[in-house]
Amino acid sequence: DKDLIKKAKAVLDGNFQEKGYSIPCKGLYPFQWKWDSGFIAIGFAHYDMGKAKLEIETLLNAQWGNGFIPHIIFHVDTDTYFPGKDFHQSELHPLSNKKYPSTGMTQPPVLGFTLEKMYSIAKNKTDILNFIEKNIDKVYNNHKYFYENRDPQNEGLVYIYHNWESGTDNSPLWDDIWETMDSPEYTFTRRDTDLVDPSQRPSKREYDHYLHIIEIAKQHNYSDEKIAELSPFLVQDPLFNSMLIKSNYSLISLYRILGNNEDKIEQLKQWQKKSIASFNKKLFDEELGAYIHYDLRNEKPIRFVSSSSFSPLFAGIPSKERAQIVVNTMLAKFGDDNMYLCASFDPTNERFNPKKYWRGPVWINLNWILYFGLKDYGFNEVAQRVKEDSIELIEKAGFYEYFDARKAIYNSEKGGYGGNNFSWSAALLLDLIN
Ligand code: DGY
Repeated sequence: DKDLIKKAKAVLDGNFQEKGYSIPCKGLYPFQWKWDSGFIAIGFAHYDMGKAKLEIETLLNAQWGNGFIPHIIFHVDTDTYFPGKDFHQSELHPLSNKKYPSTGMTQPPVLGFTLEKMYSIAKNKTDILNFIEKNIDKVYNNHKYFYENRDPQNEGLVYIYHNWESGTDNSPLWDDIWETMDSPEYTFTRRDTDLVDPSQRPSKREYDHYLHIIEIAKQHNYSDEKIAELSPFLVQDPLFNSMLIKSNYSLISLYRILGNNEDKIEQLKQWQKKSIASFNKKLFDEELGAYIHYDLRNEKPIRFVSSSSFSPLFAGIPSKERAQIVVNTMLAKFGDDNMYLCASFDPTNERFNPKKYWRGPVWINLNWILYFGLKDYGFNEVAQRVKEDSIELIEKAGFYEYFDARKAIYNSEKGGYGGNNFSWSAALLLDLIN
């Protein structure tokens, strides 16, 4: 659809900033976000490789001395977002990047597969390989950071210490963790709920918890060791770890193409072996027939099915037999004929909320991940359904941030929620239809 492609490009071009990065959308998100940038670069790669490269370079410029890459880079001064840089104070960390104010938390490691995607899309392979050669070690160092600092029990599974690190910010997955915390009632002024209907955003009480975890990290200058010891939120997330494992594979492929990187390839393979074995052992729930999260702080599995539960398909983690089980679960719980694939949280669970951010709506980035995962395993029909549903949602509602999964809603309501003209919805649509 030529018209849709044109519109998608207009969204991306409209969100690209002079400093060489994209905002996720106007109003709600005025800075650079880590995993957004990866998806956005994949969209740009289809028609403007210069911008795709800038997007990634600008993000990597903000990398810390220890390999860490933050989740938000505060490139501009604005009081239209809370919590901003004065709240996060990531400069407390001794190895933080003093040139680029940022948060002290990260987001899913998408850059490895972003680089590989850019390589496969690029027409000029020499040029893109030069670019990759210049930047790939930074991504490798980021993975090294994760394995060396975020795996206290040496399992090959890295933890996240904040729900904002998961990317699935207010998922019902975290509800029981909030119950274990006794966060103070903070006084603050949110800006997101001025811009978006509060019924589509996290609650005030959830924000108290979000801030409280950051306060604890700040008290310890964002020390990984102290966070591992003290953070009330410490989770092994199948989505986050799938992104890492997928990106490991991509780094191996790219290093092979570049040549002369045997040591790094060897190290990556060792990480892979251990990660995939632990992943299948620890994060698969036989009874639910799906991958699940693990609460490392309270040492217990978080037994819910979310769209993250299917992301291991994208990273080649399950065996063929297990992949079939996972897809059966997806279709049984999320695949009703009246529903678009794929809701972000189990529609058959009482915690499902079709309008509230990550508590139910469909997200295009997860659909993109599932589409390629399903295709890799040969589930072509389901893959096609995910792709067609994604395109139909955007056609019906526009380039929204998230979408109602219930088909009937679109007869009477808009169905698209959160921010509009949202970059990754546009970027990944371009990749899906190309
Ligand atoms: C937000 O502000 O909701 C962001 O998703 C945090 O990363």
